[in-house]
Amino acid sequence: MNMCDLIVKKKRGHALSEEEIQWMIREYTDGRIPDYQMSAMMMAVCFVGMTAEETKELTLAMAHSGDMLDLSGIRGIKVDKHSTGGVGDKTSLVLAPLAASVGVPVAKMSGRGLGHTGGTIDKLESFKGFSVSLTPEQFVHNVNTIHIAIAGQTANLAPADKKLYALRDVTGTVDQMSLIAASIMSKKLASGADAIVLDVKTGDGAFMKSLKDARSLAEEMVSIGRLAGKDMTAVISDMDQPLGYAVGNALEVKEAILTLQGKGPKDLEELVLVLGSYMTVKAGKAESPEEAVCMLKDSLKSGKAFQTFQEFIRAQGGDPDDAVHPERLPQAAFQEPLLSDREGYICDIHTEEVGKVCLLLGGGREKKDSPVDLSVGLVLNHKKGDYVKKGEALAVIHANDRNRLAEAGKKLETCFEFSETRPAAEPLIKAVID
Ligand code: URA
Repeated sequence: MNMCDLIVKKKRGHALSEEEIQWMIREYTDGRIPDYQMSAMMMAVCFVGMTAEETKELTLAMAHSGDMLDLSGIRGIKVDKHSTGGVGDKTSLVLAPLAASVGVPVAKMSGRGLGHTGGTIDKLESFKGFSVSLTPEQFVHNVNTIHIAIAGQTANLAPADKKLYALRDVTGTVDQMSLIAASIMSKKLASGADAIVLDVKTGDGAFMKSLKDARSLAEEMVSIGRLAGKDMTAVISDMDQPLGYAVGNALEVKEAILTLQGKGPKDLEELVLVLGSYMTVKAGKAESPEEAVCMLKDSLKSGKAFQTFQEFIRAQGGDPDDAVHPERLPQAAFQEPLLSDREGYICDIHTEEVGKVCLLLGGGREKKDSPVDLSVGLVLNHKKGDYVKKGEALAVIHANDRNRLAEAGKKLETCFEFSETRPAAEPLIKAVID
């Protein structure tokens, strides 16, 4: 087989066969297909798409490109959660310890930032000493003892996705439904959990801009998971404005800490309670989502969720006191408010652009291996539906470079739209595929 022939075949709109997909993934993983050819293939897929059959074959080929984790050493029904990516999406930082605090065995594999969206692994590295490289023994031990472990994708867990994810991030080929479905589900299948709760984002800050596309993506992932024998639920949630107020790695960690202490933004708390309720029921720790929500709320209120978070930070090499003193987390040199030059109700926030402001400040990757500045980003003062007066601060920008700060300010200003009347409130949870 020849990669150039496969690129041309895809470019002309034909479906690749199971053998071709398996060959392509094997050769790419082993370094015999160069990045430039795989970039061309990814771009062809973006224009032409993939059939459901191709997507399933791509998922399976990527899942089997490395180790398939054996989590049988973990007691109970192991539950994983994954988000399709959003702006200010710090859900896992709150949800994983919260679910663990009510006894759900959370065995989670997380990723780094992708495109304009952030990644849990980068965020967790805001804790000095925190390690996301756990041996399989440590991973199993931590879930058995404190009910939670979050690891980065090890070199040998779906290595094909690891290479492709980094390649797509810097070649403008992230936002394709089949590529997203295969990327997420290959990792989930390889990482061995029994049940998976997916948070599929929809809206301007998501890869799937329309509810229709988000639903198709959710259905595709649920069906791939079920074929592989997993207990699946997908929640479709709003990403037409950042989740919570903070956007940027360490800034999001600080907001997650507040949420675990019961003092977080309403939308973030609502989302973790919904996702957490499905995780809790799947793990057999509650009879119904309603009972699960009560358990999770109690845990936030009693401090148990925050305590589990601290145990988790300690178990993975960080200092749990940093969670009590978030001022010890990375801090940017400059913090400057962005003042509104208009007055009215905020009726729209260009969320993808807000994510790009964070990238511009250095909060994401420009190239495959470029470092991420964990301290930079922005904290909104207002969300959709709020009334803002002229001269009032819309957000505070956190930067380490004066030029980038000025550029970010100009760009962020254009992200807000105003109206004279209050816009209708949109529900956070758009649909559940259960
Ligand atoms: N998250 C992933 O793991 N992969 C994608 O392609 C998009 C979001």
